[in-house]
Amino acid sequence: GRRVTVRDIAAAKERHEKWPMVTAYDAMTAKVFDEAGIPVMLVGDSAAMVVYGYDSTLPVTVDDLLPLTAAVVRGSSRAMVVADLPFGSYQASPQQALETAARFMKEAGAHAVKLEGGRRVLPQVEMLVSAGIPVMAHLGLTPQSVNVLGGYRVQGRGQSGDELMADAKALEHAGAFSVVLECVPSELAQRVTASLSVPTIGIGAGPDTDAQVLVWQDLMGLTPHPAKFVKKYFDLAGEMDRAVRSFADEVAAGVFPAPEHSYR
Ligand code: KIV
Ligand code: NA
Repeated sequence: GRRVTVRDIAAAKERHEKWPMVTAYDAMTAKVFDEAGIPVMLVGDSAAMVVYGYDSTLPVTVDDLLPLTAAVVRGSSRAMVVADLPFGSYQASPQQALETAARFMKEAGAHAVKLEGGRRVLPQVEMLVSAGIPVMAHLGLTPQSVNVLGGYRVQGRGQSGDELMADAKALEHAGAFSVVLECVPSELAQRVTASLSVPTIGIGAGPDTDAQVLVWQDLMGLTPHPAKFVKKYFDLAGEMDRAVRSFADEVAAGVFPAPEHSYR
């Protein structure tokens, strides 16, 4: 079958169908999610933390993310693969945004890109859309701006909710095909979702967005201290701990490898 496209995503909103998005950073994980029917995968700059071990998304580079994006594209056959543009790779100008996005499309095979910010990145969004690149926007808690926001905290309470609404409408008008809403009050996310004709994708944004996204290590229980908005669907850290301890014990006891794992 063919890949999910922006037209499929738009049609889902018209049918009032909710859909899931997960992050992916490697081929084998992407294959599992692809075969489970996840329609959109994000190669997030959250790779800075979950792959590279940094404590924010700021240090990760285009060169760090390109091979992960290429791996996710190779590991999947049905999902739309969205590449996150990292900090410093698009803010300077629309030209910089186009050069960066083109690398993700040409060198890694991404089908769309995501960038953070509202009206301040409209020239970038317009440039990418005019070049034929689908753009996923990202509002609310935008982790690349953590030093301006003063921490990882809920956004859009009170007055700033009107600003977020205006940003969302401007992004839609500029041609964004979807808008991630991170860590905002459910009531605001509901109003933005009802006001836009393009889908909203929530993370910590309550139950009323068109889609939901989670970082896969969060939903699988690999992340040590996940945020309040995370639901843990599996205890991957616990299961891996148990398994690797069994391996270690069996090696120490001389039980592994057994004859069936050995060549004669
Ligand atoms: O980088 C990321 O994983 C993201 C999602 C949480 C939306 O931007
Ligand atoms: Na991100």
